[in-house]
Amino acid sequence: MKNVAVIGSQWGDEGKGKIVDWLSSEADVVIRFQGGHNAGHTLVIDGITYKLRLLPSGIVRKNKISIIGNGVVIDPWALLDEIEEIKSKGVNITVENLIISESANLILPFHKEMDEIREDAAGKAKIGTTRRGIGPAYEDKVGRRSIRVMDLISEKNLNQRLETVLLHHNAIRKGLGKNVFKKDKLKEDLLKIAPEILKFSKPVWKKIYEFKKQNKKILFEGAQGILLDVDHGTYPFVTSSNTVASAAATGSGCGPNSINYVLGITKAYTTRVGEGPFPTELKNNIGEMLGTRGKEFGTVTSRKRRCGWFDGVLVRQTIKISGIDGIALTKLDVLDELDEIKICVAYEIDGKQLDYLPAAVEDQLKVKPIYKSFKGWKSQTKGIREFDDLPENAKTYIKELEKFIEAKISSISTSPERNDTILIVDPFKI
Ligand code: IMP
Repeated sequence: MKNVAVIGSQWGDEGKGKIVDWLSSEADVVIRFQGGHNAGHTLVIDGITYKLRLLPSGIVRKNKISIIGNGVVIDPWALLDEIEEIKSKGVNITVENLIISESANLILPFHKEMDEIREDAAGKAKIGTTRRGIGPAYEDKVGRRSIRVMDLISEKNLNQRLETVLLHHNAIRKGLGKNVFKKDKLKEDLLKIAPEILKFSKPVWKKIYEFKKQNKKILFEGAQGILLDVDHGTYPFVTSSNTVASAAATGSGCGPNSINYVLGITKAYTTRVGEGPFPTELKNNIGEMLGTRGKEFGTVTSRKRRCGWFDGVLVRQTIKISGIDGIALTKLDVLDELDEIKICVAYEIDGKQLDYLPAAVEDQLKVKPIYKSFKGWKSQTKGIREFDDLPENAKTYIKELEKFIEAKISSISTSPERNDTILIVDPFKI
């Protein structure tokens, strides 16, 4: 039996939706373990489009159990809206197929406001967050003043927890000249929806243990990408959770040995939304073309994504950091019309060559990419399902990329259609 963790190996938006959908059809249990409704996974099944933010991808399939782990930050209103939206498409969501961790932390309206206040005040130093309150909610978790799912259970407890967290927020708000946030209305609103949330809550760690004993196949569904990891990403231009595969264990309540295969979703070029270093960014017509052909607009915020060449140095780095066993290469067809395709194979900084991205943001902004150039294939790969059917130049590009990043390619995606995939290895069947 194998449990698989799927994570993004770049700055998110690698096309996880399609791969996660395919794997969740094989899994019995699908678990979200980090992030919040800053994520956006789009699934198209039998012609129906489902836009998921907080709910695990297993939710749209029959006979799967979906779990929101303790590592996720939950905006309870956003979750209830999403449940309603997905239900309105004919999906059954009950306490039988959705479990929420009792110890997941809540995103509350003052977190969203704090995210906005900070971003607006930061000027050029802004992070470019999704303004969903993700960062402030994780800060409160680590600051031990957060409100967790189980805090909704009693009015007395909720009241005391709200006093603690608002003491902190209101001090900052006053300092920034903003109005204080009132507790009573929020408490009332929370108590109104509490039964709707609490009915799904269970000790997730215990359920996972039971599922493992029953030999159920578990899919850990990562959000964002390793370069947005709060420890290993391009800090401070990162999200506030750990996006690496090992977060699947802490974010759900099982040991690292419960993850048997780590699949890194990797786009055949690079994109990023929001601010921060991006060594291979193309601010020219090739970048524009990648954005247009690749439909590179954020699913959550509709922002235009920045586009650039494939950065082999970065992907090789994230593969090592996260223990990626194999990669699913996505959006190869977006490169179909290019005369020349480049891969970044090293950086140059102050006349010296580097084979990794340095940790200091100043250096990250300074590095110049050194490229290896490949001839484009100038023909359609869209829809190809066998490696041998690919044009020779595409095969060369893929093989060189694989050699450079030092990880096996387990599948290649050649269109948004689920079946347009060249399958080399099925992670659940190794
Ligand atoms: P936050 O997660 O809203 O705090 O945003 C922090 C950074 O992560 C910003 O650059 C966002 O654009 C980026 N980010 C957050 N979630 C995603 C995602 O799902 N895909 C791509 N970028 C994301």
